[in-house]
Amino acid sequence: MTIRTHQLSELIKEMNKKELSSFLSRFKCSRSTDSERFLREVSVMHDKKDISRTHLIVDSEEDKILGYFTLALKCLSLNECDLSKSTVELMNLNEGVAQAYLIGQLAKADDAASGLGKRMLDEALKAFIDGKRKFGCRMVRLDCKDELIDYYVSYGFQHIRRNHEKDLNQMAIFI
Ligand SMILES: CC(C)(COP(=O)(O)OP(=O)(O)OC[C@H]1O[C@@H](n2cnc3c(N)ncnc32)[C@H](O)[C@@H]1OP(=O)(O)O)[C@@H](O)C(=O)NCCC(=O)NCCS
Repeated sequence: MTIRTHQLSELIKEMNKKELSSFLSRFKCSRSTDSERFLREVSVMHDKKDISRTHLIVDSEEDKILGYFTLALKCLSLNECDLSKSTVELMNLNEGVAQAYLIGQLAKADDAASGLGKRMLDEALKAFIDGKRKFGCRMVRLDCKDELIDYYVSYGFQHIRRNHEKDLNQMAIFI
């Protein structure tokens, strides 16, 4: 199996609209149909508007998407929380707002091997570390459901707080 990472922005240039749409629509992630929908219906528009960048892990022999992750920027405002003094210091708060990189999406295909998520997180952090070297910012954030808190904690993220709607958890890691 030959696995390569492609930026969606490259595929937008290389493929026609119909080909790209059919390629993205073949991605199946039954654990999270929202992830399927984002890739199929939102990712291209967000890439064209420079809102986010989607990266695809592709099995080039099978011409199949094994997983994808989407990177962007999203600040975090913190008023009250139970974080340690050292974590708050790491955030470089300015009037209660911390600048952060965002992992907006992370999903693998139903039949992709376990462990692909870690590979995608490694690639995402590598891209952000490059950004940090060029223009700063050390916090990476993501939002996840309760069932995935332990998964991200075992990778090194820490729980910041629940979101306003109380349905997701805001997690962060410092690079
Ligand atoms: C998140 C993800 C990429 C991690 O991939 P991975 O590193 O290969 O790890 P695994 O798929 O083995 O998942 C790790 C654990 O999280 C659990 N998990 C993953 N996604 C889950 C979900 N949506 N709901 C509930 N549990 C989930 C798995 O059951 C597994 O638990 P276990 O270790 O007790 O078996 C992959 O599980 C996935 O695509 N999940 C669906 C999409 C999703 O929910 N993304 C979350 C965005 S925040």
